[in-house]
This record gives sequence, structure tokens and C-alpha cells, in this order.
Amino acid sequence: MNHHRPEGTPAPAVDETDLSRRLAAMTLKEKVCLLTGADAWTLPPVETAGLAAMMLSDGPVGPRGASFGGNTPASLLFPSPTSLAATWDEEDAREAGRLMGAQARRMGLHVLLAPTVNLHRSPLGGRHFECYSEDPLLTARIAAGFVGGVQSAGVAATAKHFVGNDSETERMTFDARIDEATLRQVYLPPFEAAVREAGAWVVMAAYNGVNGQSMTENRRLLADVLKGEWDFDGVVVSDWMAARSTEETALAGLDVVMPGPGGPWGDALVAAVEDGRVPARVVDDKVLRVLRLAARTGALDGIPATPAPAVPDDVRMRLRQLAVRGSVLLRNDGLLPLRPRELTRVALIGPNAVRFAAQGGGSAHVTAEHVVTPLEGLRRVLGDDVEITVRPGVFPHAKLLPLPADLAVDPVTGEPGVRLELRAADGAAVSAEHRQIAPWWFPIVLAEEVTELALRARLTLTASGTHRLSVLGTGRHTLRVPGRQDQHHEQLQDGDDIAALLLNPPSHTFTFTAEAGEVEIEVLTTPQRNLPYPVTLAGLGYEPPRGDDDDELTAAAEAARDADVAIVMVGSDADTETENLDRTTLALHGRQDELVRRVCAANPRTVVVVNAGAPWLMPWAAEPAALLWSWFPGQEGGDAIADILLGSEPGGRLPTTFPVAEKDVPILDTRPVNGVLEYTEGEHIGYRAYRPGGVLFPFGHGLSYTTWEYLHATASDGAVEVTIRNGGDRPGREVVQAYLETGQGEPPRLAGFAAVEAGPGQSVTARIEVAARTLSRWNDGRWTLPAGPHRLLLGRSATDLPLTCTLD
Ligand code: BGC
Repeated sequence: MNHHRPEGTPAPAVDETDLSRRLAAMTLKEKVCLLTGADAWTLPPVETAGLAAMMLSDGPVGPRGASFGGNTPASLLFPSPTSLAATWDEEDAREAGRLMGAQARRMGLHVLLAPTVNLHRSPLGGRHFECYSEDPLLTARIAAGFVGGVQSAGVAATAKHFVGNDSETERMTFDARIDEATLRQVYLPPFEAAVREAGAWVVMAAYNGVNGQSMTENRRLLADVLKGEWDFDGVVVSDWMAARSTEETALAGLDVVMPGPGGPWGDALVAAVEDGRVPARVVDDKVLRVLRLAARTGALDGIPATPAPAVPDDVRMRLRQLAVRGSVLLRNDGLLPLRPRELTRVALIGPNAVRFAAQGGGSAHVTAEHVVTPLEGLRRVLGDDVEITVRPGVFPHAKLLPLPADLAVDPVTGEPGVRLELRAADGAAVSAEHRQIAPWWFPIVLAEEVTELALRARLTLTASGTHRLSVLGTGRHTLRVPGRQDQHHEQLQDGDDIAALLLNPPSHTFTFTAEAGEVEIEVLTTPQRNLPYPVTLAGLGYEPPRGDDDDELTAAAEAARDADVAIVMVGSDADTETENLDRTTLALHGRQDELVRRVCAANPRTVVVVNAGAPWLMPWAAEPAALLWSWFPGQEGGDAIADILLGSEPGGRLPTTFPVAEKDVPILDTRPVNGVLEYTEGEHIGYRAYRPGGVLFPFGHGLSYTTWEYLHATASDGAVEVTIRNGGDRPGREVVQAYLETGQGEPPRLAGFAAVEAGPGQSVTARIEVAARTLSRWNDGRWTLPAGPHRLLLGRSATDLPLTCTLD
């Protein structure tokens, strides 16, 4: 199915006889034990087989390390997968994969739980930012490059979540009903490319079901399609807690249950083998797959590991270039690039200017070694002589930022951080310890006798007024501030979903007034105990005194009026775009739309930068002089944004359609009905389904700092060659796109693309290979290639296709 075949992963040749020998040395108990996690992130070692423990870790924006919550180690933070897909460049994806693989090796990991190759079926999908595109071909190409890059470092990539996990509502249980042709033509191709072309070593079975069978029990898709038709010889791992049966999962083709210990296999699977309900060879096959994975990732003794590539010294520059490459210039009336010599005063405005969102939320979240903010980026390029005024403009965030480490100390030890005390019913201390302030929150396993948690901190208040302090987690919370009445709040969780607690922790904000100075506060929590797990989490957020939206809007407009240029940053954050939740609206939260309009009215030289991982509505899109979409650009994001504003070529093209209004979105409802999510639209998702008037910015759209003329196209030998000319006065890069016109009343669909570069006045020819598979349809259980000729439409987006050409 490849149209320009990547070299794939040069899988280290595995000596299968050696694996069989190791298998033969293991007892049934050892074999079965190996197939469930020893804990949340590792597979157990097996001494008799010479097998070391293997470590698995999320995820798509960088290796998180083998933990979750506040104790997560610092790592490299990459641009969001939507940004990587916006490069429309398999080589950029391979580069990202290589760097991430190198970082994973540095952290001692064997398996990276990425890429996420589900599709943008609906822009409301909570993990939209973590998936690549609404188009299967673009997703497949980016996935193939990324998988190849990761595995070249000797780390397994994991194509997830197989399959139909394109939204999050009722994600553990919904059944996606997808007809066979749609599955084959739309939802399976990214997995197929990851497995067959790039040779992914791991596939993750999703939580949801497809066509009546849970994906961890889906024999048709796991055994017949993935392992049968596609010859997958790697490991199928369950999504975390997705395996809920013993025989059904074991017989369907699931190989590893995560997390552990415990779960549905263990002794129950040993018994099933002993009773003959599960054939011994089924377990042997799973163990062989795990051993093969170990051989590939350097976890088998006597088998040399792929040499670990070093994380290059210039990794920061490379992450920055990737972010530049993915950023999409949506509009520009000539204001950009800015000319530094013409600037003396810049207004940097907006909630995302002060709370820059480098990444989305959920299991993909990593603790970044650092984040370059837009202010830092602008300072660097503008120098100290340009005055930069920063204003938040509005306060749209539902949750506060974590309590800054420099504002809180443990009142007992005086160290930065907080004191955590666990108490019994009689008030006696069960434990007391110092905790660093987590960049996020930390999980706490509750012993039987613990009835109360206390977090104590001495805060330095830098201003007088109303302070906001938020508490994360469930239970009954009390805030104690000396000289003030205690404040109480109870927040309980319904249901027994631990993922909901960890991924979307409930938050409550208390307020108290105080003068600047020091104050000792205490937050007491009676944890919720009627849940099936004895875990709670603790986290504190803080916000110093501030004005309200009305005051801030006025101040922002004034700052804009007084500046040579206003840069407005709006968007979302990791609480809004995250896992386990679909979004309920595409409208930017709070009064951000009003902010953009006020600033545009105050200064015609306004650039809007949208900092979000997935589409949001921009009812004001025509108002600013320029509009840049930065996605969640990762740790070097602030530098990347500054680079583009000051002249670096923005490389991105939209991997997904941006709608005019919510009513224009083809699929807006991601709520299953009676547990069933019908994909009644078939293959008509994304640009294949929009009516023209509903598109604000089309799939494939993105401007360059130069202009391009499309000259002519010719077909040759399964490919089309498109000649374009750089008509501007600076070098640039263009992504030339080919769409197949099917002529059967169906919308055109992407058939290939290629990125090219040319200097001013130069012409360049893009060669776009079009694979037979891309032209084929799934009919009656097989691929058929409709008779030619095939008409291709060529151009720069799904709706700007000036050339045509015919392929025989
Ligand atoms: C997510 C997976 C992730 C796993 C481990 C699940 O909740 O769906 O994508 O790899 O957790 O964190």
C-alpha cells in the first residue's frame, strides 16, 4: 500500500531457534506470569529465559518515564502529533521518532506507547491533538515515518489504539459500528502502514469494541486481520485495564495484559491451559512474541542491543525546527514577517501568552525539562531595546496553575514544597513527610486506617487582595487560613473509573483575602472511600490577586493601541484537550473571542496566534492582519513562534478541516447511544464530508512567506509530476497535494503529496507517487482497482486544486 515506501525499520534479525530454546526452558507459570505487567509500567524479568524486565512508557509527545503524576521525571517535550502531521513530511516524522527513540533509550525504556493513529472523526474528540489527521493516507505516512524513526533507536513503537477509538465518551465500553469497507479504507490503513511498512513491534488493543466485540477480545481484527492478513509478528498489548476476560482475550490474539499485577490472566489463565480451554500453544505463541520484542529491544541476554543513539547536542534546535515546520500560517495580509527594526513597542496579549500551553493532557502528558515561553522567544529575537507589554486579557481557565515551587515551603523543614500528613480517625499521625510541589499532582495509596490527609504550606503572598487556592482530588476538603473562617467543599466521583480520577482530577477553587506577606495554610481532606481502589491524589493550585475580565479587556485593548504591533495568543490547555473526555464545544472558552475583537479594533497591526492542539472556532478570523496556528508546540514552542513571526518559513499545512461554525461540522456527536457509536457516515469524515460554505480553512491549507504558481502536471509511471514556481522574493517550501476524483458522486480524496523547496523565481517539480492501493476500493472481501483512467486534481489544499492530470 506504500506510495513512497520508507526504508522501514531494519529489524534486527531475530534468531527464532534461540527464542524457542528459551521458551522451552520456561514453566507454564513463568510463561503466564510474563504476560501480565509486574506493575503499571514493566513486564517481569524471567531468569530462566535470560530475559530482563522491560519498561513501557507513554507516549506521543515524548517519553514520560515509568510513572504518572507528580513524580514523573523530566523529559523532552515534542510538538503535539497534530503539529507533526501538519508538516506533511514523512522525513520530519522520522526525525521526531528518532529523537524520541534516543530519549527513550536514555531513560532505559524498551517500549514507547506511541504513535496514536486513530482519526479525527470529530473535532470534539478529546485526544484529537494526540492523533495525526482526519485523512487515513496522511496519518499512515506520518505514522510510518515516526515508527521507523523510533525503532531505529532500538525502542519499540506502539501503534494505538487498535481500532475505532476515535472519541472518548464512554471510552472503556462503547461499541463502534463501522462497516467493512469503511474500516478497510479509512480506519485500518494507518495501522496497516505502521505494521506492514514500518514494521511496528507493538500494537495496542483499544478499550472500545468494534462491531459487537471488545477490541481486546476481537478475534476477527486481532487474529484474522492483524496477525493473519498482515503477518504481524509483534506483541498486542491491552490498553491499560482494557482486558476484562480470561479465555476470550487469550484466544482472540491479545498477548500482554497491562497494567499488573493482577488482572484477568495469571492463575486463571494457567487453569484455563491446564483444563484445555486455552491450548498451550496459544500461550507459547504469546511468549515467543514477547521474547521477540525483547530481542529487538535489547532485553535478552546474549543478544546485542541496537547501539543506543545519543540524544544530539542540538536537540533543542531540532525540536524548535519541528515546531516551526508544523505551525500553520492561516492568513497574512503582509504584516508578517515582522521587521524588528520597525518595532519599539510590542503588546503580547492573551491567556495563552501568560499561560502558554506547550502540550495537551492525559497519559500523553510529560514533565518537560523546560518550556520556552513566547515572551522568552520574543525577547531573544527582539533584544532588550524593544518594550514588550504582557497582558492576559481574559481569564478563561477552569483550573489554576500548580502552586509555584518558589512560593511555598514546608512549615516544618523550611524546604520548598509542602508537608503531607496522613492521619487516623483519632487524629494520630500515620505518616508525615516533606513533598516537592508536583508539577502536576501526586497519587497517594491510602492505608486502611487513614481517614484524613493534610497538606500544609507556608505561602509567600507577593500581593495583597483576593488569592485563589485550588484543591485537586475527591473527598471533603477544608481550607484553613489563620484568622479566617474554615471553608469547606465536597467533591465526589461517581462510578469507579480510576482513570477519570487520575486523568481529569476534579478541582475546587477557594478564595481568601490577605495582605502581601507570609501565611501558613492547611488543606484537610477526608478522602472519598466508597471507591473500589484505595487511591487518592493531592495537588494544590494557586493564583495571586488579579483584576476581572472587564478590567483586563480594557487594559489589553489599551496596551494594543499603544504598541507598534499586537500579538494576541488565545487557545486552550491541557485541562481542556485531554483524554477520557470529549470536548463539549468548539467555542474558545471564556471571553477570548471578545478579546481578539477588542484588540483588532484597537490596533490594525494585530497578529493572532492560536495555541491549541485541535480546531477551535474563530468567528473573528477575518479581523486580524495575520493569523498563525501554533498547535501545542512543545518545549521550544516560544522560540518557534518568535522565529516565524520574525521571518522563518512556517511549514505547516492543516491535517484537519477548520469549520466556520459548529453546525458545519459533519460529525459533532461522539456520544454512544445505548453503548453503540454508529459510524453511519461511512468514509465521509473530514474534508470528504464538509459542504463548501462550512469550511473556514480547508484541509491542506497553509501559507508560505512566498507565493506559488502551479504551472503544469504530467503523469508518468504510477506517479504525477507537478511543476510549480516560486513567484515571491524569498525561498520557500510548498506541499503539493494530489486528490483523486472518483467521478462516482464521491468527494475527491487525498492520493499523495510531496513537499518541495525553491528559491525566488525558481521552478521545481514535485514527484507524487500514487500507489495502486490508494486508487483501490474494498469490495466483497478484497481490494479491487477500478479501471482507469484516474483523474487527479492537484494543488495546495482540498479546495484549491488548479491543475488536473490523468493516470492510466
Ligand atoms: C491510554 C493509553 C496509554 C495508557 C497508559 C490509557 O489510558 O488510553 O494511550 O498508553 O493509558 O498510560
